[in-house]
Amino acid sequence: MGTVILGTGSCLPVKRVSNHDLEGILDTSDEWIQSRTGIKAPRISGKGEQTYNLATEAARGALDMAGMTADQLDIIVVATISSHMLMPSCACFVQKELGATKAFAYDINAACSGFLYALDLGDKYIRADPTKKILIIGAEALSARMNWADRNTCILFGDGAGAAILGHQQGESGYINSNFFSDGNLWHLLYMHTATSNNAELCVEDNPGVHVVMEGREIFKYAVKAMEDAVRGLLIKEKITIDSVNLVIPHQANIRILNNLIERLEIPKEKVFINVAEYGNTSAASIPIALDEAKREGRISTGDTILFCTFGGGLTWGATLIKW
Ligand code: ACO
Repeated sequence: MGTVILGTGSCLPVKRVSNHDLEGILDTSDEWIQSRTGIKAPRISGKGEQTYNLATEAARGALDMAGMTADQLDIIVVATISSHMLMPSCACFVQKELGATKAFAYDINAACSGFLYALDLGDKYIRADPTKKILIIGAEALSARMNWADRNTCILFGDGAGAAILGHQQGESGYINSNFFSDGNLWHLLYMHTATSNNAELCVEDNPGVHVVMEGREIFKYAVKAMEDAVRGLLIKEKITIDSVNLVIPHQANIRILNNLIERLEIPKEKVFINVAEYGNTSAASIPIALDEAKREGRISTGDTILFCTFGGGLTWGATLIKW
């Protein structure tokens, strides 16, 4: 088939911020947050845990599992919406930290869908040149981009990073296909401004500052339906049924979105990997963190068909199938 995942890694900040901790700063409760989102105590970055630090540690784990060194990497792609700088990219900082001198590096922005978009991109590079070794990462420190006075958003998100090394292998294993969509018309349901413009002509009116703004109820409705349709479309395209999927690794948005999706697609719950209680929504990092945990917990065996699905700001969404 072709493009395989040679190794995975992940890195979470040390500090947990529980719902009880949030009760101290917001008009909220552990009961409300858990019943509405399933989230208990996400990790929040502290000193020395910038997005690129988390991304670098995740990459080291993936290199280690792949039995590779950084100088063997050809390309580094980081999916993120919360790099500590707009320029240089988070990927260039990772390249520097790893000493991956041969690799060129850049970021992509597809919000929570970024890691799957990066996986698809990596597959295209490897199809063009099977000798390439590509590091893809989803990394976020969204705690730096929260309005900590907005109880509608700040209770949902957490920080972390996950990584995978892509390469080529003969045989049955490999990337199968994706089914991706975007709808910029719905940008206003979930967005984050950059800093205020220094060009008066280019000022954006009503810029609330550099933090995530979200219409939670609308996002909920779109997320469930969009992921369901993307998955169904992909299964039809690949002429397989959900029964032949061994493991589903969805974007860990919140437990009600996941439960709705599981119900609509009639997936047995034990086939779905869920860790949202521990980490909250880590945006582009959520799928690669879950993938790494699933792999290290022995939930993935050679020959397994794995289905990913995602939804995020943009709006962006989609589904991906791989054979491990
Ligand atoms: N604590 C206590 N009360 C709260 C909180 C809170 N943290 N947040 C909102 N409320 C209140 C509201 O103010 C409202 O009060 P009111 O009735 O007095 O006006 C009440 O709770 C109900 O608010 P809703 O927004 O209607 O609550 P809902 O049941 O829709 O739950 C939630 C909100 C959890 C955000 C839900 O809409 C949701 O899960 N949306 C999806 C959002 C998401 O996952 N976004 C992630 C990014 S996109 C992605 O990754 C898929």
